[in-house]
Amino acid sequence: MTLELTAEDKKMLYGDYGKATQKAMEIITTLGEIYGARQLIPVSSVQIAGVSYHNLGEAGLEYLDEMAQDGTTRVLTTLNPAGMDLVEWKKHGISADFAENQQRVVDAFAKMGVVTTCTCTPYLIGNLPHYGEHIAWAESSAVCFANSVIGARTNREGGPSALAAALTGRTAEYGLHLEENRQAEVKYVIQPELKNTDDFGLLGYVIGNRTRKAIPYITGVPNATTNELKSFCASVATYGGVAIFHMENITPNNTLVPNSTETVTQDDLDEARQKLDDEAADIDFISVGCPHASIEEIRQIASMLKGKKVAEGKTVWITTAKPTKDLAMKMGYYDLIEQAGAFLVSDACCAVAPLKGKFSGLMTDSAKACFYARGKNDFKTEIRTVEECIKEAVS
Ligand code: F3S
Repeated sequence: MTLELTAEDKKMLYGDYGKATQKAMEIITTLGEIYGARQLIPVSSVQIAGVSYHNLGEAGLEYLDEMAQDGTTRVLTTLNPAGMDLVEWKKHGISADFAENQQRVVDAFAKMGVVTTCTCTPYLIGNLPHYGEHIAWAESSAVCFANSVIGARTNREGGPSALAAALTGRTAEYGLHLEENRQAEVKYVIQPELKNTDDFGLLGYVIGNRTRKAIPYITGVPNATTNELKSFCASVATYGGVAIFHMENITPNNTLVPNSTETVTQDDLDEARQKLDDEAADIDFISVGCPHASIEEIRQIASMLKGKKVAEGKTVWITTAKPTKDLAMKMGYYDLIEQAGAFLVSDACCAVAPLKGKFSGLMTDSAKACFYARGKNDFKTEIRTVEECIKEAVS
């Protein structure tokens, strides 16, 4: 199939809007050709991953600086978590060197007009597409949430292709932008009652490990909060590369119910919990807010911590977006959390901050956080409810 370009697409490709836009258009058209797209389509929103200097390094920063020479975003664009809280990094033990380099990354994005709030839950802070809208997001949990819970349409972009979409306002029409690629393929009947975010994370672990990228159609979950769904999205994307699912009576997509059926039992969830629980984990780090915590989650944690003190030798991070932290400050939740000795950390998370060697055991309610704590930081892990995490923090 030949990729057809509009006159405006061609102007971008031939350099009429400058070098960065030209380079961005080259990326978009190359992807379009590789995936056999018929045309490019406009996107209304972009979310860029690969923001932590810890992951980007100097080579990544050099690329950003080059694009920032004359590149400007054409649509609303926000960022994934960075490696530190951009304001309060010092008190979280981040080195001045790292902070300087992280700020250079954020400055390069700002120069291009990117809204420099760094979060994996952009949909909670104003980067919220509607049903059917074409977008270009990169963070796997947010991609899964956008496709499945909102019903927007995005492939899982890489860092450079998301930036390219931001600078051109375009993406190639392939993959999950097309209705025929969004149909469910395997039905899952969920038998156990799911009570908390950690249960939804465990379900994501089970389905993710089984599904091998086949799109799941999930039944047997009578209701789920946004917080629970974001936990499920993070986990099923991490353990199975799932970018879209359908949850009967909860998510908005119309789809054919597949013939092949699998069952998920309480034993399956128990086994998943055992796999994420390391024996003899010495818990010195408690982190909640993966994906980034909502204001309601922060409110609940603040009330759990009210009048308590984090135990000696333990560090507690509650990670969230900066606008949510600002709201938590206004509401007094920040003071309750920080007076207890825990940290309300914005713009960053326990997976992308430079934490290797700083702790030995993580307790969290997030199956995704367990994956990165083990794989990137060599921490041992335990997955518990948020209440149990806070209990552990103050015990
Ligand atoms: Fe978000 Fe970091 Fe978890 S990017 S989904 S808080 S690993």
